[in-house]
Amino acid sequence: MKAETETLKRAVVCGAGGFIGHHLVNRLKSEGFWVLGVDLKYPEFSHSVADSFIVGDLRDPSLYDKLLSSEIDHVYQLAADMGGAGYLFTGDNDADVMHNSALINLNVLQACVQHGVQRVFYSSSACVYPTYNQLDPDNPNCKEATVYPAEPDSEYGWEKLFAERLYESFSRNYGLETRVARFHNIYGPEGTWCGGKEKAPAALCRKIAAAMNGGAIEIWGDGRQTRSFLYVAECVEAVRRLMESDCREPVNVGSDRMISINELAATVMRISGKTLKINRIDGPQGVRGRNSDNTLIEARLGWRPGTDLEAGLRSTYAWILDQVTQQLTNPEMPSC
Ligand code: NAD
Ligand code: GDD
Repeated sequence: MKAETETLKRAVVCGAGGFIGHHLVNRLKSEGFWVLGVDLKYPEFSHSVADSFIVGDLRDPSLYDKLLSSEIDHVYQLAADMGGAGYLFTGDNDADVMHNSALINLNVLQACVQHGVQRVFYSSSACVYPTYNQLDPDNPNCKEATVYPAEPDSEYGWEKLFAERLYESFSRNYGLETRVARFHNIYGPEGTWCGGKEKAPAALCRKIAAAMNGGAIEIWGDGRQTRSFLYVAECVEAVRRLMESDCREPVNVGSDRMISINELAATVMRISGKTLKINRIDGPQGVRGRNSDNTLIEARLGWRPGTDLEAGLRSTYAWILDQVTQQLTNPEMPSC
């Protein structure tokens, strides 16, 4: 029994109480890893299957002695102060976003070196790409090599770019094996769906689920802004492939099927079976157009996403409809 435990690969997931971190813990367990999760909070929507879970603050350097040792094979760093356009692109949260996430990344890297961890994954973002390549909603350019000259459109994007450089520096100077993915709008069940940090797929699912047939919903902007959306299971698959690979350069992890926010709303509406009017209002919008360029990741990892958007949105909508229904029938659940 002991010998069997000793051969298990051991992973620490930072941000295991969050959306992608929670799904990653499930995936690592299904592959037979021993997993330690850490987060400010326990997952909100379902039980964590992590072997151990520490509720703690990764900004605190003293936490890391409890988390890391040379027996840890992989550290997955997904903890960040983040949200969707309503949280990141108003300017109201810039200081906290930069300060909190930078402290976490500085601590994680130093602790990995001190504790002899060999390999670290870092979740960067499409928000690192320059504004000047994302002005035309029909022709954004998010090839990895276009990230410089740098001009991210948010402080969140600047912190992610700084962090990418930090991981690269620790790799260069301390021989740490680092793997960096630039996530492009990840969605799916058990993601943040209300409260102000939700992204467009969850926000539109919630608004449509809560609306009466024949009523109306609001979306921010004219709806012609474009994005691509990647289902969370695909994201986790790409993370695992990247972590096992020899690919040291940052790669996009996203879907390359670009659609407008108007099309996203129409698709969710079709899934809901409702006919609703769309009111287009002022709101935080971020870049005008964005799409994942998957040329590099396909060449390096042979990965391309399989789940089609309609299927992913169907399962996301069903989960959010259930949350909305629970909220309506349970007065103890906080309202959005
Ligand atoms: P999430 O907000 O659901 O998860 C992040 C987790 O980090 C949260 O559970 C939060 O409590 C935790 N955290 C924050 N500060 C912490 C601290 N000081 N100590 C411990 N834990 C702390 O977000 P997510 O969607 O799961 O994103 C995971 C990572 O991927 C983040 O780094 C995010 O920036 C990046 N990313 C996500 C997307 C996306 O579309 N979801 C896109 C680009 C990049
Ligand atoms: N969140 C949200 N809620 N967005 C809406 C809404 C709404 O009700 N209505 C329209 N939108 C529009 C936003 O104005 C924006 O133009 C677009 O939908 C996409 O918004 P989000 O999904 O919130 O964010 P994003 O794609 O701009 O950025 C997200 O993805 C990045 C990676 O691609 C964020 O989650 C970032 O954290 C992430 O790094």
